[in-house]
Amino acid sequence: MHLFRQPQKAHELATSWQASRQTIGFVPTMGCLHEGHMSLVKAAREHCDRVVVSIFVNPLQFGKNEDFGSYPRPFARDVEMCKAVGVDMIFHPDRAEFYPRNFRTRIESGSIGKLYCGKSRPGFFDGILTVVNILFNIIKPSQAYFGEKDFQQLHLIKQLVRDFRIPTKVIGMPIVREASGLAMSSRNEYLKDDQRAAALCLSRALKLAQTAYREGDTNGLSLMRKVEEFLRTESAFSFDYAQIVDETTLDLITGEISRPARLLLAGYMGSAPRIRLIDNDTVNR
Ligand code: PAJ
Repeated sequence: MHLFRQPQKAHELATSWQASRQTIGFVPTMGCLHEGHMSLVKAAREHCDRVVVSIFVNPLQFGKNEDFGSYPRPFARDVEMCKAVGVDMIFHPDRAEFYPRNFRTRIESGSIGKLYCGKSRPGFFDGILTVVNILFNIIKPSQAYFGEKDFQQLHLIKQLVRDFRIPTKVIGMPIVREASGLAMSSRNEYLKDDQRAAALCLSRALKLAQTAYREGDTNGLSLMRKVEEFLRTESAFSFDYAQIVDETTLDLITGEISRPARLLLAGYMGSAPRIRLIDNDTVNR
């Protein structure tokens, strides 16, 4: 397995693979890898000749008072996990080289990037699209794998690839959960035992909406209200949003749900530091 910090080195090897007509599957991550990440890596391993994983905690997607500094970085463990599943290259750039002093340009994620998570985290999706675009230019992947865990992110990356005519196929993969129902996340590392138990309110809220829909409440606004009311009863959790959206356009559905819809949830556990958690699932499938 190759491990590169220099973008040029990663680019040269990836280009040589392409020159010999090998397909490249790419999994961008911020590290602290878990089974959710590994499901993407394993899919890339099955579909492609070469697998590249990037590990980079991207400063552009963190707000001033967010956890950039404390974000977990168990790099040696990540490397072992990648080795074990046959990753060909880890790209682990150095911040100063990735974003040199004269770095200026940002990709603007547009109207959808300002909704939902973008509302609570201004500039978040612009930072994500900017880093992913640079990573795509370095690795030039045939296919790139993203989790539905970050459903809005997946949507916006598909939008980026379409709008900029990037010749990479974006593949979305289902959410991997712990047996308890908790969606796997690098930020779960921060949770104390009681918070981990309280965080189950998210997956329970998803089930509650699915049950209510099945039992005849098919109105978006009414379901969102029920879910919000439920989440607000969990005192350890501070509610951010519960939104039912069209799965393909990400438009909010306030009326009758007559097309495939997703419930997107976000909030925080604890205070100082507060731990942001998100989750989502289909409502009517
Ligand atoms: P990160 O949070 O490390 O996630 C990397 C990839 O793993 C994303 O595509 C995310 O959706 C996926 N993932 C995380 N948890 C998952 C789970 N439980 N099940 C399935 N997939 C899961 O997302 C990012 O990093 C960054 O924003 C990045 C795209 C790397 C840009 O910096």
